[in-house]
Amino acid sequence: MSAEGPEPPSEAELAEMDRDQLLKLGGERDGVEIVDYPQPWPVKGTRAEKRAERRVALWFALSAIFGLAFVVVMAWPHWWEYKDPSDPSHTVYSLYTPALGVSLGLAVLCLGIGVIMYTKKFVPSETTVQQRTDGPSAEVDRATIVAHLSDAGDRSTIARRSLIKRTAGAGAGALGLAVAALPVASFIKDPWKDSDNENGLWHTGWQPRYPGEKIYMRRNTGNLEEEVEKGVTLVRAEDLDAGAMETVFPYRNSEKGDHEALAAALTRVDNPVMLIRLRPTDAARVVKRKGQEDFNFGDYYAYTKICSHVGCPTSLYEQRTNRILCPCHQSQFDALHYAKPIFGPATRPLAQLPITVDDEGFLVARGDFIEAIGPAFWERKS
Ligand code: FES
Repeated sequence: MSAEGPEPPSEAELAEMDRDQLLKLGGERDGVEIVDYPQPWPVKGTRAEKRAERRVALWFALSAIFGLAFVVVMAWPHWWEYKDPSDPSHTVYSLYTPALGVSLGLAVLCLGIGVIMYTKKFVPSETTVQQRTDGPSAEVDRATIVAHLSDAGDRSTIARRSLIKRTAGAGAGALGLAVAALPVASFIKDPWKDSDNENGLWHTGWQPRYPGEKIYMRRNTGNLEEEVEKGVTLVRAEDLDAGAMETVFPYRNSEKGDHEALAAALTRVDNPVMLIRLRPTDAARVVKRKGQEDFNFGDYYAYTKICSHVGCPTSLYEQRTNRILCPCHQSQFDALHYAKPIFGPATRPLAQLPITVDDEGFLVARGDFIEAIGPAFWERKS
């Protein structure tokens, strides 16, 4: 606002002025000319006005309903728990995430539409011309702008529109509840409660359930029914050509013919491992990580497929450069240098799985990863 214009009134004169006088004074001091300043509803209580009010209230009410729906979906017992595609309740489970997104999205959308409609229907829109100036505002300018704002509030008739106020409050409250439910929900299941649990963040499906349990490397044939019936395909040392990469999953003999266990091993998020067979010339240049010198078997190296940035699958292996690429944010890892990051946002190497070959020539894990895989979290030290 400008400090130019007519002389400012004294403090005593300012205190005596009513709102209309302050509005006029503010306009004069700012060189503002009000070209048009119509009342949105000059005749009170018309049917059109009430209809507009009900429409605004409807959007706020819808926002409240969808906000509450989000909270209900989030709190619905066991809806979020993974269900195998063969499970009859898989369809309902697969709707969980869409239901969260749709309910929260509609709550925000309806609240936004309600605010826009209220602004268009009830807040007076004045047409003015004002000169632009720089510098801090004087006391008188601040007083007049407050008068402008409170006048706009009064003219919008919000004070006497209790239906709109109530529904807007309900919409904003339900939305606030939905937003508050997000961090609260993360405390419902404590991932650290039982850190020895094989399903905890410290372990993957490659962890033996008892000492000496053999964990094989299993190929995903894409035909689960046949795997249940005829057995899975295990990977032998001679199965990969030099320079090849294959994604493998853990398999234990106890899972033989068990549809649910075989399906779960393929879908558990921390199970996929990239089994890479380096070319002999490349293998000769490998730099091993301290303490993990014997994690490979000959030219075979096994790295988790879960990116250490934010956990996308690092699905791409470029044989020519021996780089492992994560398509999410373009992190690159050097397979000849214990999969340490050499480009992109990832800062830690991909965890390496210790492997060997058993008496029958099958590639097996020598145990679980010795560090947590995937992105950082508070308790993680590496
Ligand atoms: S998740 Fe892999 S680079 Fe971001």
